[in-house]
Amino acid sequence: MTDGFLHRYFLNHGNLGVHKWTHYFDIYERHLERFRAKKPVVVEIGVASGGSLQMWKAYFGEGARVVGIDINPDCRQHEEEGIEIFIGEQGDARFLETVLERYPLIDIVIDDGSHVMKDMIASFEHLYDRVSPDGVYLVEDTHTCYWDRYGGGLKRAGSFMEFVKDRLDDINAAHCADLPDSRFSRSTSSINVYDSVVVFEKRPQGRRLSIETGAVQEGTVQPSPVPQIAEVRLPPDRAEIDSALRRIDELEAAKSALLGSTSWKVTAPLRSMRRLFGRS
Ligand SMILES: C[S@@+](CC[C@H](N)C(=O)[O-])C[C@H]1O[C@@H](n2cnc3c(N)ncnc32)[C@H](O)[C@@H]1O
Repeated sequence: MTDGFLHRYFLNHGNLGVHKWTHYFDIYERHLERFRAKKPVVVEIGVASGGSLQMWKAYFGEGARVVGIDINPDCRQHEEEGIEIFIGEQGDARFLETVLERYPLIDIVIDDGSHVMKDMIASFEHLYDRVSPDGVYLVEDTHTCYWDRYGGGLKRAGSFMEFVKDRLDDINAAHCADLPDSRFSRSTSSINVYDSVVVFEKRPQGRRLSIETGAVQEGTVQPSPVPQIAEVRLPPDRAEIDSALRRIDELEAAKSALLGSTSWKVTAPLRSMRRLFGRS
């Protein structure tokens, strides 16, 4: 349950020039509320008159770092205590790298920049890995995905929405031999698609384990909860997480090799005998 802070802020600060659709506020509060008073690093692409940066600063509270990115140098004037502005092009990897040098781990990215397909995809591809393991990447005004002048169009190749649809498959990669295990699939718990907004929620994903909760009735299938190893929260340190994920991959590969190996098959009778005589 939220306190409706953002709705009230929007209504009471008409002079600050916040450019948002009103239905966005519910979405923000649903996905971003848990970061309040936690001193998050929040990056918003698209500063314009600075109103939204002020809103994020007030919403997330003391200690939050609000970072604005805009192509327009005039936006620098909106810099103040707790708000830092970077001037550059959101699709430019080298420019984004300068932001990441200063903020190597970001809790929330809000893309409200050009809304042009190639820019949205380029920013996502460059920044997503640097969003913290339980962070959020939110893209606004995705209705442009259906507008020709932004490079969009219904089911048009290269549209951000088609990119999102491919990521939906990646979410299920663990169940599809044709989909490679990717950093995205290992780090993303959900993709939430709303009218004009897409929200990616991150959370480290473990191996899927299916646990039977009761006796199976003949002819029925019992629901199987899918616990995620990610329920154990990992420290927000990229290097440690990357190294843990690599180790899991190595162990999985070693296990597959062992199970398929000739020596494992040849020694199967020996293991059966051990089990028979109660030795491990
Ligand atoms: C919709 S406005 C941002 C509104 C602001 N976030 C708010 O809610 O009040 C979009 C901003 O994106 C900036 N912009 C446009 N193209 C850009 C690009 N390629 N890279 C970075 N910023 C860009 C524009 O200069 C403009 O200030």
